[in-house]
Amino acid sequence: MQVNPHDTIPLLASLHTCAQADDAPFYTPGHKRGRGTPEALTQLLGLQALRSDLPELPELDNLFAPQGAILAAQELAALAFGAEETWFLVNGSTCGVIASILAACQPGDKIILPRNVHQSAIAGLILSGAIPIFVQPEYDAELDIAHSITPEAVSAALAAHPDTKAVLVVYPTYYGACGEIAAIACLAHQGNIPLIVDEAHGAHFAFHPDLPLSALAAGADVTVQSIHKTLSALTQAAMLHVQGGRIDRDRIRKSLALVQSTSPSYLLLASLDAARHQVATQGFELMERTLNLADQARSQVQQIPYLSVLQAKKNARILGSRSYPAHRHRFRARHRRLHGRRISPSTTRHYRRTPIPTPSHLHHQPRQHPKRSRSPNHRTHKTHKAISFPLFPSSFSLFPFPPPSSLRLPLSPRTAFFAPTQTLPIEQAIDQICAELVCPYPPGIPALFPGEPITQAAIDYLQQLLTIGGIISGCADPTLKTLQVIKNPLGQVIN
Ligand SMILES: Cc1ncc(COP(=O)(O)O)c(C=O)c1O
Repeated sequence: MQVNPHDTIPLLASLHTCAQADDAPFYTPGHKRGRGTPEALTQLLGLQALRSDLPELPELDNLFAPQGAILAAQELAALAFGAEETWFLVNGSTCGVIASILAACQPGDKIILPRNVHQSAIAGLILSGAIPIFVQPEYDAELDIAHSITPEAVSAALAAHPDTKAVLVVYPTYYGACGEIAAIACLAHQGNIPLIVDEAHGAHFAFHPDLPLSALAAGADVTVQSIHKTLSALTQAAMLHVQGGRIDRDRIRKSLALVQSTSPSYLLLASLDAARHQVATQGFELMERTLNLADQARSQVQQIPYLSVLQAKKNARILGSRSYPAHRHRFRARHRRLHGRRISPSTTRHYRRTPIPTPSHLHHQPRQHPKRSRSPNHRTHKTHKAISFPLFPSSFSLFPFPPPSSLRLPLSPRTAFFAPTQTLPIEQAIDQICAELVCPYPPGIPALFPGEPITQAAIDYLQQLLTIGGIISGCADPTLKTLQVIKNPLGQVIN
C-alpha cells in the first residue's frame, strides 16, 4: 500500500510526546511546563498549551541546525507548497522578507520594488544597504487603493537600471489584488536575477486551481508566506520557500539566523507542521468550500444598500462604498450592523472594509437574528448613483512622486536611518528628508520612510488619517505633531 507522506505530522508528534513526559525541567522557559504560570494565564491558555511550550530538547530538533523533526517537517512543507527548500519562520513574514533582501543584495546593490511595499521590505533595505528602485503600482482611483506593479513598469525599470540585483513584488497586495507575476518572473530571469515575492497573504494559492497561481508556480525564486494569515498556523508562524539557483540559499540561512529569535517557539513551529498537514491532505476541499462561501458572502453583501464588493477578477476582498461620503452615515450604519453581528473585518478605513475569509470560517456558526421588516423603499437604495467626491490623498496616488525613472531618493534608507536627526514641528518638516518610518497600521505600508523627502501631500494624508481615527506607527510621535528629519542632509555620504 502506498503511504502518503503528508499523513504524518513529525514535529507536532514529537512535541506531543515531549509535552506528556513527566520530568523535572531545569531548562527554559521559566514557567516549567506551566507549573509556575500565573493562574489567570493557565486558565486562559490551558495547561496542555503550557506543557507544550518547550525549548530545543533533543527530540524537538533545532531550527538553526535542523536534522530531525524540524527538518522532516520543513521537507514535507516544501513538498506541499511546491518548493525545493522551505524554512520555518517564527518572526512572521517580516523576518522572511528581510532575510530575502539580505540574501539577494549587498550594500549599494539595486533592487526593484513597488512603492506600496510592507514595512518589512523597508527594514530589509535599511539592514542590507540596498538601493530601492521604486516602481509605482497601478492605482484604482475609484477605491483609492494601489494594486500591483505591471510587467511594463518593471521592464522599464530594468532597462533604466541594468545593474539591478533583484526584483521584489507583493503578491497579492494586502487588498487581494494579484499582478502579472509570471511575466515579471520572466523579466527578472532574462537578466538572471531573482524574483522575491512577498506572498504574505497568498499561502493558500497552491491548493485550488481557481485561486491565483502560487508565486512558486509562477516562477518566483523565493517567496515568503504568512501561514498564520490565510491558513491555520498560530500568529507569527510563516514560511520561506526557495527554488532554483538564483538565490544563494546559504545566505538565506545565515540571514534568517540574524533576524529570528534564538529561542523559537515550538508552539509556532508545530502549528506550521499542522497547517501543512491540513492543507496537504484536505486543502482542495477546504478551499473549494471556502471559495463557495466567499462567493455567497460576496453576493449577499452586494445586496446590502450602500455597500459594494471589489470585483473578484482582481481577487480582491474589499467591501466599500463608492458613494462615500455622501452616504457615509448609512455606510457606517451598515458597518455597525456587521459589527453588531460580531462580523469583524481585518481593516476598516473611512469607506473600506477588508474581510479575510479563510477555511476556518467553515466552522463559524453565525448567530441567528430575528428577521427585520424592511421599509418599502429598501431596494431602491441599491441603484443609487455613485457621486464623485474628493478622494482622500493616497500615499500612492496623490503623493507627488516623480515618475519611477527619475525616482531617486536623496538618501538611501540605510544612510538616512543612521544619520543624525532632529525633531521638527510637523509644519517645518515639509521638504526635509524623513528620518523615520511613518506607517499607517494596518496594513503596514509606510507613507514615509527614512531617506524619503517629506511632502505636503504626505503630511495632509497622514493628518486626515489621524482625524478619522487611524493609527500611525513607527514614528516617535504617533500624534504627528512632530517628525524626525535628517539633520544636515548635505553632509551625509550616501550608503
Ligand atoms: C504584504 C505584507 N507583507 C508582509 C507582512 C508581514 O507579515 P507578518 O505579520 O507575518 O510578519 C504583512 C503583514 O501584514 C503584509 O501585509
